[in-house]
Amino acid sequence: MSNRIAVFRKEHFNAAHRLHSLLLSDEENAVTFGKCNYSNYHGHNYELIVQVRGEVDPITGYVIDMKVLSELIKREVVERFDHKNLNLDTEEFKTLNPTAENIAIVIHGLLRPHLDKRYDLKITLYETERNYVEYPCE
Ligand code: NI
Repeated sequence: MSNRIAVFRKEHFNAAHRLHSLLLSDEENAVTFGKCNYSNYHGHNYELIVQVRGEVDPITGYVIDMKVLSELIKREVVERFDHKNLNLDTEEFKTLNPTAENIAIVIHGLLRPHLDKRYDLKITLYETERNYVEYPCE
């Protein structure tokens, strides 16, 4: 039997955003996104769960050193987005609509290059307690 296993690291960040698509008119944006399109922004406490899957190393007993994973997430994600206005303060969402979907995909793209190819990476992002996304979802 394989000794592949999933390990998870939770982090969180607070950020403001406004849902607004440059591909829609102002009226279409208002209809599509409702309150989330209000021009003065609103905030969320984002809960981020980073899943790494891989083989247990026979020497260390680890899949990955969780301290290294935590520091990577803090450096690449938390420091970049925490207490920021995603639309105004970040390069990633200058033109990309900062939905939970897009934020999760961006976070995956920020972390993936720093993880060895032997690992599978999955991002779960809670925008509220009841709304969350997973990427990738296969
Ligand atoms: Ni929102």
